[in-house]
Amino acid sequence: MENFVYEYPTKVYFGKGAAKQHLAGILAAYGPNVLLAYGGGSIKKNGVYEELTGILKAAGKTVTEFTGIMSNPTFAKVQEGAKLARNNKIDLVLAVGGGSVIDCCKIVCAQAVTEENLWDLEMVQHKAPAAAPIPLGAVVTASGTGAEMNGGAVITNEDAKIKGGMFAAAPRFAILDPEYTMSLPRMQVLSGAFDTLSHAMETYFGRSDRDNVSDEVALAVMVSTVTNMRTLLKDIHDYTARSNLMWTSAMAENGILKVGRVTDFECHQMEHQLGAYTDCNHGQGLAVLHPAYYRHIVKDAPEKFARLGQAVFGVDGAEAAVDALADFIQECGLPTKLSQLRSKVEITPELLRQVANSTNLLPNGPRQLTHDEVYEILIERL
Ligand code: NZQ
Ligand code: ZN
Repeated sequence: MENFVYEYPTKVYFGKGAAKQHLAGILAAYGPNVLLAYGGGSIKKNGVYEELTGILKAAGKTVTEFTGIMSNPTFAKVQEGAKLARNNKIDLVLAVGGGSVIDCCKIVCAQAVTEENLWDLEMVQHKAPAAAPIPLGAVVTASGTGAEMNGGAVITNEDAKIKGGMFAAAPRFAILDPEYTMSLPRMQVLSGAFDTLSHAMETYFGRSDRDNVSDEVALAVMVSTVTNMRTLLKDIHDYTARSNLMWTSAMAENGILKVGRVTDFECHQMEHQLGAYTDCNHGQGLAVLHPAYYRHIVKDAPEKFARLGQAVFGVDGAEAAVDALADFIQECGLPTKLSQLRSKVEITPELLRQVANSTNLLPNGPRQLTHDEVYEILIERL
């Protein structure tokens, strides 16, 4: 294994009724002013808003609302939240939603305490913010990204046309109630779960010369994710499957799979840039790109592909593993072509060239790609 330091900053409260049972006690540790952050309003339709505001009110908190956080949150939205946090002397930010709301709030917490532009600081000067961020708590209503248990945030800078990973503090606590996810649209449930599968695969395919326990754990997370997705194909509201997927989601991105190894994450880099140009759904973008990317690199890591194929899909051989993944994506009804993705612009070869040229090329996958190879992968899915 590679050397590592491992520490866990997020306390997790998992299960049915977790907010009712624990939130009031948690809130007692923080000051009176809470920024309640959420997205486009799903929490007002499924009862989550009512339940949480009731608990906040009973705890005597002064609540300021930060609303309308969009999927693929923008740096402009971060500034709006930071201003609200500053003006209202916020003691705790409570992010209620999926990866988009949680990521946006991670950077709000750090941006609210400094006059510096955090995009410039982190993405241009490659420096970490000096001031301690406002504490953040997450209530997860859409699982898949694992954003609730890490300190990364994926933010879109619309002016620069970059969707990039920024670093902030991880949430101090996370409430994971599978019941809160039940109102998610079917496609979002499956694309979120595919994101989890992708995280485990991207971690597993990091170039490492020796197998280690993290690979074994990653394969177990993949097996569980695929099994539980198959259960959901029969009954999308199966509570056991929803709860298993809520935890595989957190497991895949809480750092435990990355212990003692380097990771790949090139498919994520391509998808993030595709998202920067099109605003496509993250999990669905990954479903379109993964088989094409893996066909491209299968000969660079044949043993690892074969091992995954055997463990996760019960097939023999490296190429068969990629075929089995592609078949599974179809079985789930996830998109297989770029034309099936939500997009704010027409996806043309010229656009894909821009996406390819701006994709971050990472060094730790089976082979480092070139921008031309990224273009080949993207154009194959047009
Ligand atoms: O905005 P509302 O009305 O709440 O609707 C949301 C949104 O439209 C809806 N939704 C959420 N909970 C719901 C619900 N609808 C009904 N019932 C509920 N209980 O779901 C839609 C998608 O939400 P979003 O948060 O955008 O999805 P997801 O959780 O997939 O997050 C995607 C974002 O996370 C980033 C992605 O790049 C993308 O920006 N990621 C963050 C990561 C991290 N921080 O570790 C890792 C990932 O690789 C990923 O990049
Ligand atoms: Zn992801």
